Amino acid sequence: MDSRISARGLAGALGGWRTRAPAYEALADGIRLLCLDNRLAPNTALPAERELAAVLGLSRTTVTAAYQSLRDSGHIDSLRGSGSVTLPLGRRAPRHVDTDADAIDLQQASPAAWPGLAGVMSEVAQDAASLIARAGYDLIGSLPLRASIAARYAASGVPTSPDQIMVTTGAQSAIQLVATTLLRRGDRALIETPTYPHAADALRSAGARLVAVPVTTDAGWDLDRAAQALTRTGPTLAYLMPRFQNPTGRTMSAGEQRAIAEAAERSRTTLVLDETTADLAIDDPEPVRAFAMPYADAAAPFADAAVPFADIDADVELVRIGSLGKTVWGGLRVGWIRCDVALIRRLAAERPRRDLGTPEFEQAVATRLLARFPEIVAQRSLLLGEGRDALAVALADRLPEWKIPSVRGGVSLWVELDAPLSSGLVMAARDEGLFLSAGPRFAAVSGHDRQLRLPFTAPADDLRRAVDVLARVWPDVRLAAPAPAAPDLVSAIV
Ligand SMILES: Cc1ncc(COP(=O)(O)O)c(C=O)c1O
Repeated sequence: MDSRISARGLAGALGGWRTRAPAYEALADGIRLLCLDNRLAPNTALPAERELAAVLGLSRTTVTAAYQSLRDSGHIDSLRGSGSVTLPLGRRAPRHVDTDADAIDLQQASPAAWPGLAGVMSEVAQDAASLIARAGYDLIGSLPLRASIAARYAASGVPTSPDQIMVTTGAQSAIQLVATTLLRRGDRALIETPTYPHAADALRSAGARLVAVPVTTDAGWDLDRAAQALTRTGPTLAYLMPRFQNPTGRTMSAGEQRAIAEAAERSRTTLVLDETTADLAIDDPEPVRAFAMPYADAAAPFADAAVPFADIDADVELVRIGSLGKTVWGGLRVGWIRCDVALIRRLAAERPRRDLGTPEFEQAVATRLLARFPEIVAQRSLLLGEGRDALAVALADRLPEWKIPSVRGGVSLWVELDAPLSSGLVMAARDEGLFLSAGPRFAAVSGHDRQLRLPFTAPADDLRRAVDVLARVWPDVRLAAPAPAAPDLVSAIV
């Protein structure tokens, strides 16, 4: 057994679990969803039935029946004397669709690969002999790639030298490396809620205690909460997605950037800006930041105003994280960190524990891709625009009772349901072959059961079919939820 979750911890993670009757099935579904989302890791010991019943205000028989249902569906195992333990999951076939081909997977918000990628890979393969002439172990990254990335920043108003760049295996490993380098166990880390869940996991596993600041598509960042959190808890770092925040799609205004930077200066908090989604503008006619071509004369058109925190006066340490995962392809696994040279040195000293560099082939591909960046972001803009519009139109038509935000870029709509039943809805949709992540998966601490992330990265036809499924199951999910709503077990986000 790897870890255990207390009854209180499980109650908090479950949030508004009472989405249908009977209660034992709703509870079992809530725990299933935590397993599916990996919020309950395999081999986690569940609380004893009696304790969970007391914390949830249920009879012990209800919890016993829920655990029995979980055993029947292969989600937990109960061993005499050692309680109930979650099991590693295979992907269970949906109940009401005939083949896996009919299933629609919207758990990941990842667009299909940029169509020119295969051609660029073939070009690099032609040059393989010169690639393998290099040593191959390089903690910082290849100079041509670092120079291209640095030139891109410089051209968009953030003067940068190649020494200020480290190439990583995607943004996720950049986040992990920054987290383990900057944080000590017990330090505070400020984070948005909702947020990108794997970043929250990385900060937690580096030992951070998370302090959440709400952000919504309509109102943006809760600046009072951000200022209070920075002043009172003095976080070591704040992890933010200032442009096309995932999942809300919101972009920080200049005023929001200033307020946060000034508060961070006072609390001496490092701002870690994740710009993985920053280039995914849909409505802007020009790419936000075109990449410069350091070894070519041609000057690309640059729209510099949109680089978050570029014009901020405050004396605050900024670490920028970028990636080609959304702009080009998730499977490329090329990301980077931009920060001052002293921190690059600390990161390089920390890195070998986890990996010894980024593959040379992918770096060579990335270098060529950056020279074609304006073309790439223009294609992404069209693709994402089609998805966003198809999804928004279908939702407005089929589920007018939901609040559909309007976004100008990013990868998803953070939809507000007319009842806090996101988890129940996601379970019901799974049985119809539609795979989604429920709102609470994106919570920094807890909550968000009224929200659902709907990525618009899939083809428009799939998105329309997905909305058909949601419209079909939603009335039953709503009806089955007992009224009045269950007591709120979600603890306040501070
Ligand atoms: C905001 C954000 N940061 C980081 C990542 C991880 O990026 P990568 O695939 O480059 O590791 C993602 C991917 O979904 C993301 O949305």
